[in-house]
Amino acid sequence: MPRVLVVHGPNLNLLGMREPHLYGSQTLEEIDAMLRQEAGKLGIELRIVQSNHEGDIVEAIQGAVGWADAVIINPAGYTHTSVVIRDVIAAVRLPTIEVHLSNIWAREDWRQKSVTAPVCAGVIAGFQATSYLLALHAAKSMVEPGT
Ligand code: DQA
Repeated sequence: MPRVLVVHGPNLNLLGMREPHLYGSQTLEEIDAMLRQEAGKLGIELRIVQSNHEGDIVEAIQGAVGWADAVIINPAGYTHTSVVIRDVIAAVRLPTIEVHLSNIWAREDWRQKSVTAPVCAGVIAGFQATSYLLALHAAKSMVEPGT
């Protein structure tokens, strides 16, 4: 069974109340429940973490080596700044999908730059919680091509 690590970055624990016009009204718990349900249908084993701390995110990705077949990450604000998250994604060489709830290219200039995207297999952005579901399907097709 393919194994996927899902990493939610800073402030995503506030989803539901956090700028719902941008990020939707679902809470993180609701998104995680939806992800677990979809993973069940796709035959994927999931591990989900959320952290507001850059070093914890680095350690979660380092810790996925030997367990995960792919990583789905929403680096949140760190998308635009974090060399260390970019470097760990490159270092572990696990196929990684970057996810955003909002369309970062339709927002402020400084938000349109992703430091992490160039080391990811691809980016899914702009579909609110559905971005995560699409990423799960993308992870499945990367890990088990043709299924
Ligand atoms: C976000 C976009 C980021 O710019 C922002 O800092 C977030 C959420 C998104 O999912 O749309 O925290 O990653």
